[in-house]
Amino acid sequence: MVNDAVVENVVEFDAFDLEHRANPYPRYRVLRETAPFCPVRLGAARVTVATTYAGCAAVLQGSEWGRGYADGLNPFRPGVAPGEVPGGSFLGMDPPDHTRLRALVSRAFTPRASLAETPFVRLVVDRLVAAAVDDGGLDVVAGLARPLSVAVMCRLLGVPVADAPSFLGWIQGIARGTDPDYLLSPADIVVRTACARDLGRYLFELVTVRRVAPRDDLVSRLVAIQRDQDVLTEVEIVELCALLLAAGLDTTANLVTNGVLALLRHPDQLELLRERPELMPAAVDEMLRYDPPSQFVTRVALADTTVGGQSFRRGDGVVVLSAAGHRDPAAFPDPDRFDVTRYAASPPARRHLGFALGLHYCLGAPLARIQAEAAIGTLLSRAGELRLATEDVEYRPNAALRGPASLLVNIKGDSDAHR
Ligand code: HEM
Repeated sequence: MVNDAVVENVVEFDAFDLEHRANPYPRYRVLRETAPFCPVRLGAARVTVATTYAGCAAVLQGSEWGRGYADGLNPFRPGVAPGEVPGGSFLGMDPPDHTRLRALVSRAFTPRASLAETPFVRLVVDRLVAAAVDDGGLDVVAGLARPLSVAVMCRLLGVPVADAPSFLGWIQGIARGTDPDYLLSPADIVVRTACARDLGRYLFELVTVRRVAPRDDLVSRLVAIQRDQDVLTEVEIVELCALLLAAGLDTTANLVTNGVLALLRHPDQLELLRERPELMPAAVDEMLRYDPPSQFVTRVALADTTVGGQSFRRGDGVVVLSAAGHRDPAAFPDPDRFDVTRYAASPPARRHLGFALGLHYCLGAPLARIQAEAAIGTLLSRAGELRLATEDVEYRPNAALRGPASLLVNIKGDSDAHR
């Protein structure tokens, strides 16, 4: 636990223990109040946790920070060979490989390209919310958030939705495996490896099919780039597709789920958003700040460097605990308050770190926003009274990509009955 006993200047750290998964914020606060850069023991490793907004932002934006993958420097993935990026494609790389691969898929994720997906997103959301209203309730994870993100990612990449039952399990094994290895059991690591292998095989087959019969989708476009420009290997295509699927599913589903949960726990904010639906984009930013789907990311010092007066040696690891930075009173007034107008105020609140900052800034941010706005907005506008079926929300074990396993909500009447 984070206690007064600082053993050899290393804070004993429990904020990622399962017992705090449902509400890690009080532990994050203790850590932030201990130091802006807390040396902690994470399993066998000693790393530093950046706990303030300024510290997190500085590491995310600093050019001396990266993945250290080329020479196998990453202390969060001990045993991974230099140049190996288990299941991460360019997310786990540094320039120049990161730059080359990210550029190849960036065009599919511009705000404009994402906006073009809006009618499809609305269609899927309308169907899911109508079924929930008819049923008088839903599990937000299984009945809205996940099927929506699966439908959108499958359409974009050209992966058959019908195959979702098989690949969802693989993606969840990979998502669990994004936690630093010290937070994983040996069984989790075995599952991560098996899931990455099985998803890889599945995607290899899909690439082969699209090579023969191309369609209007991202897999086919990547295959065409490989054929025409010789700047991409087959393995890189498969890893890119695996990254996009893995990065776009659980994260977006967790944003919708965490957002609905925050609203249900703050009925005044829910009512305000119902009365003023134009606040929805700002509300989504507040959801990303208040209870972010990505709680932290990790970085490695690529050279000896200093941040906020703290020295680091090349190869040192930092946990950028954005979710703690989001509750930093030096950056956000009254940071523990969930306020859907925070980002609509003038001047708006400070930029949150929910999609990171810098080189690895989330490629899918516009697409994620469109889905969250449509899903939560439609639920609020179509459903009558919304209530949590139980206060006892069970979380999945993931620490980094944290979110509920399910969220049961009762719906009383439709929007007409509500008004
Ligand atoms: C609410 C939903 C989402 C959240 C909270 C989120 C969050 C993040 C964060 C924090 C990072 C930075 C990771 C790091 O620096 O280590 C990231 C990167 C990334 N995200 Fe997202 N993401 C979301 C949705 C999506 C979607 C829908 C896609 C689409 C496929 C996507 C694709 C990516 C990719 C490809 C990267 C790697 C960028 C790079 O390394 O240059 N994300 N995301």
